[in-house]
Amino acid sequence: MTDLIDRGGSAHAAILGIGTYRPHRVIPNADIIEAIDSSDEWIQQRSGIKQRRWAAPEETVQMMSVAASRTALERAGVEAAQIDCVVVATVSHLLQTPAVATAIAHELGTNKAAAFDISAACAGFCHGVAMASDMVRGGSAKHVLVIGVERLSDLTDVGDRGTAFIFADGAGAVVVGPSDEPGIGPVVWGSDGEQFDLIRQKEDWRDVLASDHPSMPHLVMQGNPVFRWASFEMAKIAQQTLDRSGITVDDLDVFVPHQANMRIIDAMARSMKLPAHVKIARDIAEQGNTSAASIPLALDRMIEDGDAKSGDTALLIAFGAGLAYAAQVVKVP
Ligand SMILES: CC(C)(COP(=O)(O)OP(=O)(O)OC[C@H]1O[C@@H](n2cnc3c(N)ncnc32)[C@H](O)[C@@H]1OP(=O)(O)O)[C@@H](O)C(=O)NCCC(=O)NCCS
Repeated sequence: MTDLIDRGGSAHAAILGIGTYRPHRVIPNADIIEAIDSSDEWIQQRSGIKQRRWAAPEETVQMMSVAASRTALERAGVEAAQIDCVVVATVSHLLQTPAVATAIAHELGTNKAAAFDISAACAGFCHGVAMASDMVRGGSAKHVLVIGVERLSDLTDVGDRGTAFIFADGAGAVVVGPSDEPGIGPVVWGSDGEQFDLIRQKEDWRDVLASDHPSMPHLVMQGNPVFRWASFEMAKIAQQTLDRSGITVDDLDVFVPHQANMRIIDAMARSMKLPAHVKIARDIAEQGNTSAASIPLALDRMIEDGDAKSGDTALLIAFGAGLAYAAQVVKVP
């Protein structure tokens, strides 16, 4: 029975390395406004988005994930064969089964690592980091690769005024592994299924196939209630996350909220009374909303720009369809 008592986990877990992939194709607001009768000015003022990246056909969910993961592994100093589990957060891998994580684990050269996908929309990456931290500390894996990846352009109706300018594509990956110091704080997560309909795939596949003119069931969103929920409720979740980690806003160096809308980011920062020294991720301006990929993409850009340094204390908070959310404090790798 010894194995049941001592599962060989590490005292602490941390993010050991991060990597990202941004599709090459840049789509400025000017390229999408005609189809939605909008303007560059309106989009920038309401969302902060100047441009987004949409993947080319060869930039598949798997391809972007593998590219981001190779960088994360290299920066972590971890070989693919050392990865025990691959967790992929995505809602836009259009082959429903098997999990794309299994193909990614194989292509990377892991030693038949456990591999599965999770569906928690824009909150998926933070769900994955929470699970990976528990796996490493619980002893079910020593190194976990967590990937957030989306090709939302496949699911976006370019004629829909409410979503066409928001959604975008990309991938981010982190290696989570054992650490001498706490590197990933306790998660605060949850869902509000009463608001299930606010952001969703328009129709069930069975309804699509039963229709006379089957077409892609795009994502639809009631932007205004989502905006209010995210701006007000998520600041409370952010505060709970700091409380659970035993720190205050003054201890933060970096704030990396899900990149949904610049006004939501600003509203959260105001509600939380973030001190001026805390650097705030604003990747949305150049990248759009990449759902599960948005937090690693935003954090990696801050590292590249020198706004986040190794060892910094960062608050991650993600929220989206479900409505699902998850947040944790982490040390920047
Ligand atoms: C989508 C969003 C930018 C829309 O902004 P908004 O201020 O809520 O806009 P509304 O839908 O209330 O519409 C306001 C006006 O702009 C107009 N409008 C809507 N979309 C438009 C567009 N793309 N271009 C120009 N005008 C537009 C509306 O017709 C309306 O006009 P009216 O006042 O004359 O009736 C905003 O609701 C939002 O960002 N929501 C959260 C989105 C999000 O974060 N989603 C992801 C969560 S993971």
